[in-house]
Amino acid sequence: MKIVYSKDYDTMARKAANLVGAQILMKPNCVLGLATGSSPIGLYKELIRRYEAGELDFSACHSVNLDEYVGLAKQDPHSYAYFMNDNLFSHINIPKENTNIPDGTNLDAEDECARYEKVMADLGGIDLQVLGIGHNGHVGFNEPEDCFQKATHCVDLKESTIAANTRFFDKKEDVPRKAYTMGIMSIMNARKIVLLASGESKADIIYRMATGPITPQIPASVLQLHQDVTVFCDEPALSVMLEKAPELVNGRPQ
Ligand code: GLP
Repeated sequence: MKIVYSKDYDTMARKAANLVGAQILMKPNCVLGLATGSSPIGLYKELIRRYEAGELDFSACHSVNLDEYVGLAKQDPHSYAYFMNDNLFSHINIPKENTNIPDGTNLDAEDECARYEKVMADLGGIDLQVLGIGHNGHVGFNEPEDCFQKATHCVDLKESTIAANTRFFDKKEDVPRKAYTMGIMSIMNARKIVLLASGESKADIIYRMATGPITPQIPASVLQLHQDVTVFCDEPALSVMLEKAPELVNGRPQ
């Protein structure tokens, strides 16, 4: 796992865009695994800027998103499908039919999870997966549990996750209690992983994820076993790392 320092959020976003952009240049028909949340928004803005400048072409790319709230339709402004259109897809030339996200309106969990597994298998897996990280170490919506969940599944969201995501809704009661999420196996099978984290509230979990025991109680800790993970953080998100394990942080000006 390589941890890359950036002074601030915008620099972090640009550095991550270098890696994602390189993936698209090297393999124009790549499969991008995409994430929602505030962490990747700057990356998406930078990818849009590079597309508008004629530097990137998404016309042959496919995408699979990590997760979706159960019960929300694509048109719902709180859905992750809406988020992706708003923050990325409607600003670039990826064909809409090449974009995939679990269908929150399919209330038959077994059916929807099997469908999504087939989507990913038919695409031949993920070339580059973008991840954020929850305060409890969740990736996608793989919440802390007694064992790693391999495949796409339906999760009961933890109270802390509901509380953290309340900021996107009018009130806590509006936050869905369930979500569909890609499992740990699809994430770990991605050929390359880019994880983004910003802000001091992520500093402790970044340190534990990168240096602590590998445990399903901190789902992101499993990334220590992956061959090609780059973690892009701003300085506040690295504050604990810089104090306790500065030798693991790359790219910090001396
Ligand atoms: C949500 C998403 C995750 C995301 C996490 C962190 O729970 N399901 O995929 O990584 O939030 O979000 P943020 O980047 O806003 O801190």
